[in-house]
Amino acid sequence: MFSTVSSAIPEKSLSNEDLSKIVETSDEWIKTRTGISNRRITNEKNGLVYLACEAANKALKKQEIDPNTIDLIILASSTPDDLFGSAGEIQYKIGATNAAAFDITAACSGFAISLITATQFINNGIYNTVLVIGADVLSKWVNWSDRATCILFGDAAGAVVLQKTQKNFLLSSTIQTDGNQNKQLVLKSRSKVVNEQFGIYNREYQYVEMNGREVYKFAVSKLPQAITECLVKAKINIDDIDWLLLHQANQRILTAIGDKLGISSSKIINNLENYGNTSAASIPLALDEYVSKGQIKKGNKIILAGFGAGFTWSVIVMTW
Ligand code: UT7
Repeated sequence: MFSTVSSAIPEKSLSNEDLSKIVETSDEWIKTRTGISNRRITNEKNGLVYLACEAANKALKKQEIDPNTIDLIILASSTPDDLFGSAGEIQYKIGATNAAAFDITAACSGFAISLITATQFINNGIYNTVLVIGADVLSKWVNWSDRATCILFGDAAGAVVLQKTQKNFLLSSTIQTDGNQNKQLVLKSRSKVVNEQFGIYNREYQYVEMNGREVYKFAVSKLPQAITECLVKAKINIDDIDWLLLHQANQRILTAIGDKLGISSSKIINNLENYGNTSAASIPLALDEYVSKGQIKKGNKIILAGFGAGFTWSVIVMTW
């Protein structure tokens, strides 16, 4: 059912060394605590829509898919250029004139949730071809004087095309949320007085605020449990899995989850050293890299899992 995958990253790279000139941090701290060395950041001109279109166009070109044959576009993003959603603008820009288009806002779980949503539309016979894009530009929404967050994030986009085939690629899936933990990772809007006499207020968005330790604990406790449940539903064992593709948040989180599941470290997909945490883009970005290098092969069994703000986490057990 997966027909193609591709990705796009901004040209500008920002190293740990560069960051140590902006906030009080060091290459050593960032590397040891997160595994990140570099991240890419967008410039003023080429924002989220630009990156998303680049990833989508590359994916379509790979399999020579005519944009007019796309039935639906789902954009997973929490940082659209337009608060009303950016999927419509992308539909126009890539020339997918027949496609319905909408955004899904679910932070770092957005791509997995969008993939599950796309699969429902294909399985119930409504659509044949769905383009799913995961894209985020969190560099535009972090507080560059908060060393606990600004060192983590990077910008990127990834895109996949799903097409109806006889065989369903998705073996099992789950989406779970604990709204009680929402406060641990937020990008809030706040009131701005426009006219006090008439009680008129606007909202304006602030920056990413995160309790890193709580997010860490949440990921390492919830993910292994949800993955194990999905393996049971799919009637397969962890030993049958070829690749564990987790949202690329922190090397220590990937290792801890891998250890809990008892999966070999050689099966854990990892590219966050070069890109940092790219939120909804991290899974398709890593998927593209491993497929392009020929490491992920047709028929491989993959656990794909996103987690983050909400708190929301989502797991897919699938065949490539
Ligand atoms: O997509 C999901 C989104 N988020 C995540 O997945 C994040 C999950 N959490 C994490 O990855 C980790 O919690 C962090 C990497 C954010 C932080 O690592 P940590 O080992 O949990 O560090 P910490 O917050 O407990 O801070 C330890 C120390 C503190 O100093 P004191 O209080 O011990 O003196 C911090 O002030 O490290 C300090 N610190 C830094 N030092 C140098 C925090 N950030 C930095 C920094 N450079 N960038």
